[in-house]
Order: sequence, then structure tokens, then C-alpha cells
Amino acid sequence: MTDWETIRYEVDDEVATVTVDRPDKLNSLNVATLEALQDAIAQAEDDDVRALVLTGAGEKAFIAGADISYMKDLDTPEAQAYAELGHDVARSLETFPAPTIAAVNGYAFGGGCELALACDLRVAAENAVFGQTEIDLGIVPGWGGTQRLPRLVNDEVARRLILFGDRIDATDAHEYGMVGEVVAHDQLDARIDDLTADLAAQPKFAVAAAKEAINAAHETSLESGLTYEKRVFSGLFGTHDQREGMDAFVNKRDPEFE
Ligand code: COA
Repeated sequence: MTDWETIRYEVDDEVATVTVDRPDKLNSLNVATLEALQDAIAQAEDDDVRALVLTGAGEKAFIAGADISYMKDLDTPEAQAYAELGHDVARSLETFPAPTIAAVNGYAFGGGCELALACDLRVAAENAVFGQTEIDLGIVPGWGGTQRLPRLVNDEVARRLILFGDRIDATDAHEYGMVGEVVAHDQLDARIDDLTADLAAQPKFAVAAAKEAINAAHETSLESGLTYEKRVFSGLFGTHDQREGMDAFVNKRDPEFE
């Protein structure tokens, strides 16, 4: 286990868990914590894990957003630098070469909601509360919320959340398609363990290729996305897992992926 001051990092069975550990400030993200988060994600990439889980320490919060006491006196260039850092962290989750899961165990406001949106999957505890609340502070989402939220939920929902700063519970977030599932608070860890164990048993290169191709669907034209898919599909032929998966099927046995 590695510790930065406000980030805990551990790897177990090829699954990295990154915990924002600043519970007295509801895991809000000051510059040092964001930088440590970026380092922890880079460490997980070096460790070649098969899944990464992002969560928050304590009983109340996933991440209550960017640090408002830090932001309040920033000028435009300083705000730009803070936005760059938050965007870099979000992008690192989005492009991480294995699936990322936000285990949303409480408040996910502002930048916390945006980092959850940048993960591949979101599992919410029943006590989770989501919100792009920046409008209440006289600003707009600055770590990707205006771009990722409308790609995830319908446009009207995204506009309402961003324009009114509504705080919504886990059930509504699920109904809007912001989270994949809602579980009892005391079941969150067990559910994450199940999901990550399943992911860790999947063929690694195919999982990475699938993630890249799905990301491309949000970022390119249909034509270039389809071209991209053909390339990643054919590129998997000849890999151990492709040979193994198909041989197992024709010989009626379970595959053993790398
Ligand atoms: N930035 C900095 N500090 C924050 C914070 C944030 N985003 N969110 C919470 N904190 C701090 C509080 O200032 C408080 O610190 P203090 O004990 O030194 O006064 C501590 O965390 C606990 O928060 P508190 O507001 O007392 O807890 P609560 O249970 O009454 O309310 C929230 C919880 C999440 C509803 C409330 O803290 C809140 O609305 N936070 C801001 C959320 C937000 O707008 N985030 C988007 C930022 S872009």
C-alpha cells in the first residue's frame, strides 16, 4: 500500500483502489490531493492492474468537489491551471488502459461528480448524492461536466442539473442513467469486489480494446469510429486470449485467459 498525504493507494488481486482520504473536508480536492490522485492513477498504470476503483474515505462523501476555499480567490490564469489539473485527472481515468469504477459512497458534487462521470462505470450507495452544483458558486463545471454529462444522460437532464445545480439522490441518478446500479451502503464494497473480480477474469487486451473503441464512439465521427473498431477487432487475432477463447468454445471447455 502506498500513501500520499490525502490519497490511499492499494493493489489487491490486480485491482487498484484509490481512496481520496480527506474526510474532514468531505474529500474535496485541493491541488495537492489532485496531484497525488494523478500520481496514484499513474502508479496503477505502471502496476498494470486490470481495474481501478475510485472512492472516498469516511461515511459521508465520495468527493464533495473542488476545494472552494482554495478556488475562491483565484484569478483567471490560476483558475485555468486548476481546470487543467482537474481535466488531466479526469482524462487519465477516462483513458486508463483498464476499466475504472467510481464507488460513490456519499456526496459527489462538482468535481467529484465529474470524476465519477469520467470513470467507465458508476456504482452508487443508497446514501450517494450527485450534483453539478457549480452554478450555486457563480461558475460552471470545469473538469468536464458540461461535456461528459450530456454524453451520458439525455440533454434535458444534463441542462437541468447544470443550470439549476440540483442535488439528486442515487435513485434519481440511476433513473437518469448517471449510475449503473444502486446498492445498500454496507453492500458497496462487496459489489465492487464482485465487479472487479469479473473484470480481472476477462481477457485483458480485449477489455482494453473494447474500452478504447467505446471511447472513440464519443469522440469521433461514425465513419472513423467504425474504421477504428475494425482495426482493434482484427488486431486481437493471434493473441493468446483470442486463440484460447475460440479453442475453448469449439472444444466445449472454459477458457483460461492470460
Ligand atoms: N471545498 C472545500 N471544503 C469543503 C467542500 C468543498 N467543496 N465541501 C465540504 N467542505 C468542508 C466544509 O467547509 C467543512 O469544513 P470545516 O469543518 O472546516 O468548516 C467540512 O468540509 C464539512 O462540510 P460541512 O458543510 O460542514 O458538512 P455538511 O454535512 O453540513 O454539508 C455538503 C455537506 C456536501 C452538503 C456541503 O459541505 C456542501 O454543500 N459542500 C460544497 C459542495 C459543492 O458545492 N461542491 C462543488 C464544488 S465545485
